[in-house]
Amino acid sequence: MMNFENILVQQNEGIAKITINRPSKLNALNKNTIAELHEAFKLLEVNKAVKVIIITGSGEKAFVAGADISEFANFSVEEGTELARKGQEILFDFIQNLSTPVIAAINGFALGGGLELAMAAHFRIASSNAKMGLPEVSLGVIPGYGGTQRLPQLVGKGKAMEMIMSASMISAEEAKEWGLVNYVVEHEELIPLCENVAAKIMRNSSVAIGAAIKAINANYTNCVNGYSVEIENFGISFGTDDFKEGTTAFLEKRKPNF
Ligand code: COA
Repeated sequence: MMNFENILVQQNEGIAKITINRPSKLNALNKNTIAELHEAFKLLEVNKAVKVIIITGSGEKAFVAGADISEFANFSVEEGTELARKGQEILFDFIQNLSTPVIAAINGFALGGGLELAMAAHFRIASSNAKMGLPEVSLGVIPGYGGTQRLPQLVGKGKAMEMIMSASMISAEEAKEWGLVNYVVEHEELIPLCENVAAKIMRNSSVAIGAAIKAINANYTNCVNGYSVEIENFGISFGTDDFKEGTTAFLEKRKPNF
């Protein structure tokens, strides 16, 4: 359906799967891959047949081994600032604020920009071979795609401080214990589990889910009162067809047809 150089997009029933496909570079995020991901997410969000998006990496070794170091090694201060600003805008914030749920299926190394990508997704599921870390300070730089903000939100400030300062990797099991991923399964079970979880999500109102994502994200947005955003979106729900269908179906003792 969509033709890209560095990513594959497949659609099966209501589930779209994006696979980052540069295995020879461990799926590192270069500029073109980031632009393609932006385009794919943008097109999938407006496709009402797509209820859940799974993002994963090709092969068994890596989800994404980071931003492409070879691309920015010679950057100036201005170029570095622009790299982070643009990336956050078109990919990382874009995914976080997508109204369609995004599940990251972490199938191997998720390092630097790779872990930041997984953290921008709405939640994460990992295979047992996955390894996660933010190694940026080992390169003399800091995380620039939201890692200093989203990692503490997910694992707490102390663990985030240690992970970022030490630049070391944690195992999938540790990531689960810390709340960074929701489940850990064997590699071959990873996509099937994501699809099972997606199937549970797809039974519900996409419109209400989009509103819930907005309200949950408000808790992590500066200068925004999450409770007010919740009240507003709660109210908006009452004007939707899905609300009418969901409540009517309940009262008629049948399954809703959203
Ligand atoms: N950017 C650019 N290229 C990368 C990359 C990245 N972030 N991560 C891996 N690659 C490339 C390697 O340069 C290598 O390319 P080559 O075969 O053309 O030399 C290829 O992917 C395979 O990686 P390699 O390092 O040989 O695999 P490995 O099994 O020895 O090590 C890692 C795996 C993940 C430990 C190692 O690749 C690594 O440390 N990558 C960088 C991680 C990082 O610091 N990311 C944060 C960036 S901000």
